Amino acid sequence: MGLSERIGRIKPSPTLAVSAKAKAMKAQGIDVVSFGAGEPDFDTPRHIKEAAIQAIRDGFTKYTPASGIDELKVAVCEKFARDNGLTFDKSQVVISCGGKHAFYNLAQVLLDPGDEAIIPAPYWVSYPDMVRLAGGTPVIVETHEENGFKLTPDQLDAALTDKTKIVVINSPSNPTGAAYTKEELKALSEVILTYPNAHVISDEIYEKIVYDGYTFTSIANCGEDILGRTVIIHGVSKTYAMTGWRIGFTAGDTGIIKAVSMLQSQSTSNPTSIAQKAAVAALKGPQEPVDEMVRAFHERRDYAISRLNGMEGVTCFTPHGAFYAFPNLNAYMGKTYKNTRIDSGFDLAAYLLDEARVAVVPGDAFGKKGYLRLSFATSMEEIKKGLDRIEEGLGKLKG
Ligand SMILES: Cc1ncc(COP(=O)(O)O)c(C=O)c1O
Repeated sequence: MGLSERIGRIKPSPTLAVSAKAKAMKAQGIDVVSFGAGEPDFDTPRHIKEAAIQAIRDGFTKYTPASGIDELKVAVCEKFARDNGLTFDKSQVVISCGGKHAFYNLAQVLLDPGDEAIIPAPYWVSYPDMVRLAGGTPVIVETHEENGFKLTPDQLDAALTDKTKIVVINSPSNPTGAAYTKEELKALSEVILTYPNAHVISDEIYEKIVYDGYTFTSIANCGEDILGRTVIIHGVSKTYAMTGWRIGFTAGDTGIIKAVSMLQSQSTSNPTSIAQKAAVAALKGPQEPVDEMVRAFHERRDYAISRLNGMEGVTCFTPHGAFYAFPNLNAYMGKTYKNTRIDSGFDLAAYLLDEARVAVVPGDAFGKKGYLRLSFATSMEEIKKGLDRIEEGLGKLKG
């Protein structure tokens, strides 16, 4: 069957592919340690599950407005007021099927062919493909470990053109864990404001998963002008261990929100009614389970980063947020094992899966060569076992 030209512009998500391969190996009885997961290994807190069960019992099982229920939109507005000092009216909020859907929708309503979207690399794997699918052109700007994997105002200035429609800011970042300070965001916002067509999509999905007393700031906090140009995407997936529930949200300009709501009304309709009720409970209920999860991630991060930095030829940036380590393994490029040469992160990840039984995601998938992404959203025991295997596996490479 002839498929559309449009679908030919994208490829399957490499992160989901790694997790699927590790799961398939496990199902065959192979003992694989998986560092592939992009989701907390904790269960959804009980009070959130109870709210969903109650919604089912109450018969809250029918269509809702396509843009989501008012109760959840109000809870989202309260969250932004409480946590971020940002005032949004519920007409400025739309509920979608996860943060991914939120970004997808924005790309669809903002981009025309020829429009450019600036995406700092390393980037979350889905941004460039969702931009391409919408007909836009991803403009990848490579950030460097020396700058803490952050975009500098000069780099941004050099990338911006009259065609720039979107600048993507993802702080804390997947895959590096880099998190911008308010001063850094302010400097970026000043550059963006010199281009009247440029909007910011601020992906704040890892807001709550931060370490070392880092205080989260949104670029929308950097003044009225940039607030007017910023659309925030967020959701309950990572904060409340709710990846399977598929609830994300978008907040910003009323015209953009209206367009997204219309798009949903002609595509997905509403996100699941029951999951919306669960998300209300997540946002309005006790936040202690989040603190507990972050404490566990913090401990694992400290262990994983120090182990990685202790390995021969490996250096690893200390992430300030999210739950990923992004070690630099360039020292291993060009090495060999049994006549197989390691020339990329893809080769190294394949070698580690086949020989060391450890699943990691190649940095190449995030637009950075010579790096790997390891999720520490898995138990300390698995982290120890997996890192032992990686160290041993790297030690076998020659050259
Ligand atoms: C940076 C970033 N944004 C958005 C998402 C989407 O999350 P979800 O669609 O599960 O809410 C993810 C998930 O991996 C992510 O890492």
